[in-house]
Amino acid sequence: MKVAIIGASGVTGTELIKEALTRGHEVIGVARTPENIKSADPRIAKRKGDAFDRQSMIDGVAGADAVVTTIGKRDLRDTRYTLNTEGHRNIVEGMRVHNIKRLVPISSLGAAQVKRPGIRRNVYLFLRRKYYGDMHQMENEVLDSGLDVTVVRAPMLHNKEQKKAYEVIEGRNVLPSGTSVSRADLASCVFDELETDQYVHKVISLADFPES
Ligand SMILES: NC(=O)c1ccc[n+]([C@@H]2O[C@H](COP(=O)([O-])OP(=O)(O)OC[C@H]3O[C@@H](n4cnc5c(N)ncnc54)[C@H](OP(=O)(O)O)[C@@H]3O)[C@@H](O)[C@H]2O)c1
Repeated sequence: MKVAIIGASGVTGTELIKEALTRGHEVIGVARTPENIKSADPRIAKRKGDAFDRQSMIDGVAGADAVVTTIGKRDLRDTRYTLNTEGHRNIVEGMRVHNIKRLVPISSLGAAQVKRPGIRRNVYLFLRRKYYGDMHQMENEVLDSGLDVTVVRAPMLHNKEQKKAYEVIEGRNVLPSGTSVSRADLASCVFDELETDQYVHKVISLADFPES
């Protein structure tokens, strides 16, 4: 399979590329600064693309069989809280232009909780409500897009090694019992889903099994 990874320069993007290549897939790595995509493997085509720029997303996904997105706001001075909604509208448009059906966006468990962001309930969620609100809106839009979508909601991410000891739970507002997972295991979950299509049109959440 040829998989376009939007956000390929990020830490999760790097793990997704590693997982794709290990499993024998080809990769189109799309990033605002393609030189920052770490792998030099010849099976990666590196393309320049900003999620806010529709044409670059249309060009970015050309030739892919499936698209995985791992875009997150890194620049705290950037006051736009529409990266996920606007970005995915452009990505979905690119997929329509090229008749690509399969999309796996990485979202966050915060998107499941954002409907109740009272400051007394959870200060962190309250402060991040615009960020998670953008993700929640994106999830609804991509699920309604008519594409074959699986939204993968991640908990707090860490960079420990892949353990493949995580649970996957289906359902829009069901939280797993763990609170974190490695980016390498997240990548494994994404490619398991791309290879099996087990949860098409669904939202899944994952997390490490709690320590016993
Ligand atoms: N970190 C966590 O604990 C956590 C928890 C739950 C969910 N998530 C989600 O999981 C995903 C990966 O998280 P991460 O912490 O591993 O992220 P990360 O390494 O910081 O990567 C974020 C990526 O988004 C890209 N990006 C930002 N704005 C963009 C734009 N306008 N156009 C194209 N690409 C853009 C960045 O590219 P540049 O190199 O150009 O900046 C970077 O490659 C994100 O979707 C995040 O929201 C993260």
